[in-house]
Amino acid sequence: MAATGSAVGLGNIWKFPYITGENGGGAFVLIYLLCIFLMGVPIMMAEVMLGRRGRRNPVDSMRYLAEEMGHSQLWRFLGWLGVVAGFFILSYYSVIAGWAISYVFSTGAGTFAGADAELVGQHFDELTKSPLTLIFWHSIFMVITMIVVARGIEDGIEKAVRFLIPALFILMIVMVLYAMTTSGFADGLRFMFAPDFSKITTEGVLKAMGQAFFTLSIGMGAIMVYGAYLPKETSIAQTSFTIAIADTSVAVLAGVAIFPIVFSNGLEAGSGPGLIFVTLPLAFGNMAFGTFFGTLFFILLVFAAWSSSISLIEPAVAWLIENKNFSRIKASITLGLLTWVVGLGTVFSFNEWSYIALFDNTPLQGKTFFDVLDYLTSNIMLPLGGVLMAIFAGWLMKRTACEEELAINETAYLLWHFLVRYVTPVAVMLVFLNAIGVFS
Ligand code: PHE
Repeated sequence: MAATGSAVGLGNIWKFPYITGENGGGAFVLIYLLCIFLMGVPIMMAEVMLGRRGRRNPVDSMRYLAEEMGHSQLWRFLGWLGVVAGFFILSYYSVIAGWAISYVFSTGAGTFAGADAELVGQHFDELTKSPLTLIFWHSIFMVITMIVVARGIEDGIEKAVRFLIPALFILMIVMVLYAMTTSGFADGLRFMFAPDFSKITTEGVLKAMGQAFFTLSIGMGAIMVYGAYLPKETSIAQTSFTIAIADTSVAVLAGVAIFPIVFSNGLEAGSGPGLIFVTLPLAFGNMAFGTFFGTLFFILLVFAAWSSSISLIEPAVAWLIENKNFSRIKASITLGLLTWVVGLGTVFSFNEWSYIALFDNTPLQGKTFFDVLDYLTSNIMLPLGGVLMAIFAGWLMKRTACEEELAINETAYLLWHFLVRYVTPVAVMLVFLNAIGVFS
């Protein structure tokens, strides 16, 4: 349950639609789905397994497992890679979650009732152009996240998630039903599901893979930490598969709800990070009981973001507690403050620093701090971390240890082993090389 809460978040509802829009739709979605099932699920199984056997924060779990299996202590850097990735992801995640909180209030106040595309667009621009407002909501989100982290990963999250995910599901269905009534429904579906490979670039492939890792929360130790709390009798394969299905369904429903609205209002599918903050208010503003559904939706989105953000920072918190003798409270406050400060870089990416002259004439030209952070973490650090976990599990763990942990039948085991051992490392390598232009 907690791992599902980690997986389902802004990645599904905010990021998936906007990067699908930026990367041409169908072909991107297809590659994304392939990555989820061929790489995501087996790597998630490997990560849960490493966590359950390591039973510590990711750095020490890797150190411990490497020792148990007689391998180099350098493996602890894999843990570090994840701790750092989680920290940086949270820094921008919190800013976007802040947008969602602010939309709870604007939707609740009826701002979007009967609104047209221009008005909702204007509202979004005004919000993102005001650093102080963004800082305010970013701070609120960081505080509510760190309060829960400071109190420890408790069954509180599991209880919240048990209600949250089904509620989110129902609301997404309501939105899809609304989307069906709009004139752009067929176009929206075509955009999402009819693959046109001429629209996908080598970088698009890298982004589809990065998104698969991001949305499943794998490759950085979040799932490893939760694996450490997983009871011995729980089936790792079944858990991983269920999480992947739930996570993918939410993302696909979000796409099916959003693209019809894009096309029926003549909006731009590739308009970027503001996509859901323009399309969804537009939908809520024009459907029956829209203010009610809209407010409820943004509340659920904030909760979904919150249950993900806890898992982004938990590896770092656990490391400070287990190694530096920090109390949980002190670790949470320290990391919360640091993350908050780095988050300011993302706040300014949408206003003061939307153009960084320093990046001119480099490959980063035209990118913002947020773009760079997101690119490095999702597209490079998570796949790299994930594939190293796959390599560890597939090549360095003893077969008996894997079989004992996974407890699946022979065929399933062989399939998993083949995927982590050969398919994922080769695939990640090819996608990386492809993205830097080796094959073109
Ligand atoms: N999976 C989360 C989402 O989709 C984000 C996340 C990534 C959480 C990595 C934890 C670790 O929103």
